[in-house]
Amino acid sequence: MVIPTYNEAENVASIVGRVRAAEPEVDVLVVDDGSPDGTGKIADDLAAADDAVHVMHRTAKAGLGAAYLAGFDWGLDRAYDVLVEMDADGSHQPEQLHRLLAEIDAGADLVLGARWVDGGEVVNWPKRREVLSRGGNAYARLALGLPLRDATGGYRAFRAPVLRAILDSEVASHGYCFQVDLARRAVRAGYDVREVPITFVERVAGESKMDGAIVREALVRVTGWGLQDRTRWLRGVFSGQGH
Ligand code: GDD
Ligand code: MN
Repeated sequence: MVIPTYNEAENVASIVGRVRAAEPEVDVLVVDDGSPDGTGKIADDLAAADDAVHVMHRTAKAGLGAAYLAGFDWGLDRAYDVLVEMDADGSHQPEQLHRLLAEIDAGADLVLGARWVDGGEVVNWPKRREVLSRGGNAYARLALGLPLRDATGGYRAFRAPVLRAILDSEVASHGYCFQVDLARRAVRAGYDVREVPITFVERVAGESKMDGAIVREALVRVTGWGLQDRTRWLRGVFSGQGH
């Protein structure tokens, strides 16, 4: 399980402890971008006390996407069969990880923990975040034709070969649109992508790193991918091969 952190000193010990308690078979890699609040040092102490906990220290805050790419490379190099993403702030429940892993065991290539499906929930999220997430998902569905209810979420399990294949060509997304990018790549490549309901609980401690630049990057990139897909489709139509 790869857990990216930036200023999560109040959360990192609790989340790592919960993962290890809920799923003792799962190893944890914390990817810290040099958090000024000392998150990296706390993670080092956790790693010193538990062989299944590892820490990657990066020097500067380079975005969620970059942190995950570095963490996935680390995991793929070490031949893990399944790689999981999860936020550090308690929004994703380690006690629900079994839902994602059960679906992998049932044959899925990629499992998305989803808020906006039957049985999915959000707890304590401000209305404007709910509107942003629902709107972002509606736009991603429309612009990209994704058959998904929650393509922006950050609680996921990937089979290693699938992750390796979709990371094969360069992923340029820095911010949270990284999540949409990976979901889109997996769907387009024809993999078995499934959603399972999760309960997303707004963080109690620390602050969200979501900002206007992250939203703008997502809007620009999703629109660009949508236009690319449409252009490809139109070319097919005019050369007589469209479906
Ligand atoms: N290493 C690193 N570097 N970690 C980061 C960075 C970064 O630049 N930016 C954010 N993180 C970490 C946070 O410390 C946290 O563990 C996780 O990424 C999610 O960040 P939050 O800032 O808590 O995200 P959120 O709650 O606003 O957004 C949630 O919803 C988004 C939209 O659905 C998350 O679940 C996102 O993954 C999701 O895309
Ligand atoms: Mn959060």
